Amino acid sequence: MLDLFSQIEDPERDEILALRKELEQANYQYYVLNTPTMSDYDFDQKLRRLQDLEHLHPDMFDPNSPTQHVGSDLNSEDNVAERHTTQQREADNVQSTNNAKPSTRSPKGFAQVAHKYPMLSLSNTYSQEEVEEWLQKLPEGVEIVCELKFDGLSISLWYENGILTKALTRGDGTKGDNVIENIKTIAAIPQHLSPLTFHLSPFLELRGEVLLSWEAFERLNKEREAAEEPLFANPRNAASGTLKLQDSSEVARRGLTCYLYYMLGENLPANTHYDRLQIAKQWGFPISDAIKVCHSLEEVMDYIHYWDTERKNLPVATDGIVLKVNDLSTQEELGYTAKSPRWAIAYKFPAEKQLTRLNAITYQVGRTGVVTPVANLEPIQLSGTTVQRATLHNEDFIRQLDIREGDMVWVEKGGEIIPKIVGKDPNNQSPIANSPSGRPIGSVPSNSEASLSYLFPTNCPECGTPLVRVEGEAAWRCPNESGCPPQIKGKMEHFVSRKAMNIDGLGSETIDLLYSQGLLKNIADIYALTQDDIARQERLGEKSAQNMLAGIEASKQVPWARVLFALGIRMVGETTAKKITRRFPSIDQLQWATVEQLTAIEDVGEQIAKNIIAYFNDLGNLEIINRLREAGVQMESQEEEQAPQSDILQGKSIVVSGVFSHHSRDEYKAMIEAHGGKNVGSVSKKTSFILAGENMGPEKRKKAENLGVEILTEEQFLELIKN
Ligand code: IVH
Repeated sequence: MLDLFSQIEDPERDEILALRKELEQANYQYYVLNTPTMSDYDFDQKLRRLQDLEHLHPDMFDPNSPTQHVGSDLNSEDNVAERHTTQQREADNVQSTNNAKPSTRSPKGFAQVAHKYPMLSLSNTYSQEEVEEWLQKLPEGVEIVCELKFDGLSISLWYENGILTKALTRGDGTKGDNVIENIKTIAAIPQHLSPLTFHLSPFLELRGEVLLSWEAFERLNKEREAAEEPLFANPRNAASGTLKLQDSSEVARRGLTCYLYYMLGENLPANTHYDRLQIAKQWGFPISDAIKVCHSLEEVMDYIHYWDTERKNLPVATDGIVLKVNDLSTQEELGYTAKSPRWAIAYKFPAEKQLTRLNAITYQVGRTGVVTPVANLEPIQLSGTTVQRATLHNEDFIRQLDIREGDMVWVEKGGEIIPKIVGKDPNNQSPIANSPSGRPIGSVPSNSEASLSYLFPTNCPECGTPLVRVEGEAAWRCPNESGCPPQIKGKMEHFVSRKAMNIDGLGSETIDLLYSQGLLKNIADIYALTQDDIARQERLGEKSAQNMLAGIEASKQVPWARVLFALGIRMVGETTAKKITRRFPSIDQLQWATVEQLTAIEDVGEQIAKNIIAYFNDLGNLEIINRLREAGVQMESQEEEQAPQSDILQGKSIVVSGVFSHHSRDEYKAMIEAHGGKNVGSVSKKTSFILAGENMGPEKRKKAENLGVEILTEEQFLELIKN
């Protein structure tokens, strides 16, 4: 028994679970939302760490771990609702394979189609030594095809009797969305093949990458900036967002492009990958010219080094080199792992970094009052764009690296939209240095106590309020939530955003303008705006006023869960808000909730509970809520949204696992919350019981049995709540 507990409390096991959760979330942000929160490099490093840990703990094998499946681009409800835990995915996946119908409709309106052959990923490395090791493990004398790794999203094109019939995204690797109408807007992709071709191969599948050029990406982001829409972080995300649009004419307008790198089908000519691609090129497919057959490690390295520099001149983004075994029968012998072929590997270029001069440090106050130090830089070109500002993260970062104005610093642009400072030049040889050390004379070391106040302001740069630093947090924060301009404007921007109140026609610039005119002082003022207030602004006019007022009116129908999210209570995100409103179907109930009641809700920890309580203890907030209510904003769930039914499961932590027949898993979770219980993802000694359906994970069952946790069938559970 002792042994068992020491195993359960093993930090490595916790790390496995935490990494799986973090990587699932990052996959979802990247593939579904197209708003990456983690750089590719960080993702790959964490995935590596997870692989190593799973190797050390084979009993924790989970077929749904991010190490075992490709990230999914499907917008299925399951994906959205269940993205946060690997464990919860297990039954979904069982369900989706059992139901693997050839074509169902995804919530976004694209037909989902099963792939003929799974669409896999590539194993990747950032180390040239590992490329060498991979090459050395291959049978002697094999030819290697080197290709560019295009940074877009993969696509599978089906040609049946010479006609382009389907274009599938990778989806979850086994089924993808059919985005054929959008693919047909890409001029480079043939829609008909010559009779000669399809007599040879009545079914042909070409795989490749859909891309948006740097030029098209920048044009699109400029338009979005003007329309006050969120910007895409990089061309990949822009291409991915574009391919999933419903309106093909908008897709055509944005101008996607494509390169193909893999041909599959029956009776295909040629015995090598390279020859196949050359044939595909003759048949009219867009195949890159940068493909090379290499015969030695030296040739491979030369290719890598050449393209590491030369890729900067390409019109599209690339993030590495793909190495493939050329001979197709050797490929077949080498085979596949669950996630990738053994006959190929990707070498990824390290994120582009540049050295430039830090001219000045300024401070930016965000929506939540966090004060972020910003590096104002001598402008440089980085990954296709000009960079002048980058985050310096927080005070500790600046002090640890002893970064001072005038220093030469390394700037990196990863997957995220905001570039970051990642280090400084140890020699600090600033081209315009005015002292032997390369530093401006009189600069103060930032890691000495004396420099603390010099480096980091003690008062808010926007409103002058003394800053506070919460223990254990790296950030300094301005506590003047309701009086600090960027916080007020930020709150309003969040309130009107698409996932919150979705008020069309009221973007950040308009908020800025109306705030400066004294017309908007808080979110409740939005509902007091009149046609005249808006129309008399020079930049706006009658038409904008009408649009905006229509948007404001429509927002009164937004359901209570989204209103709660829109209020911007710290740490209450979209999903958490939904869970809270299931338990508290009106603001009047939520207003009096206790820490205990709140922390009984899944995903609500003590800090969130405290933030909610503090929010309702503020008189200013209560006044805003009253005004919103009077304006007609939804402050309670409609009847069809469920109300709490009993307290029978109060204080119970319940794990739901497996596939159910009477209700869906989501419905069971809602029932648990409606009866006062808390849903948790993994089994521990604190688990009250497991609600188990078919195919519950064997690992979970074993753990439950060892810990003596009771397992209830769905019939037993329904009986329990009926009583
Ligand atoms: S081959 C079975 N070749 O990289 C092997 N992939 O990280 C299929 N990619 O999902 C992939 N350029 O979307 C291959 N020249 C290239 C590529 C390439 C970009 C993408 C592809 C794949 C991803 C893996």
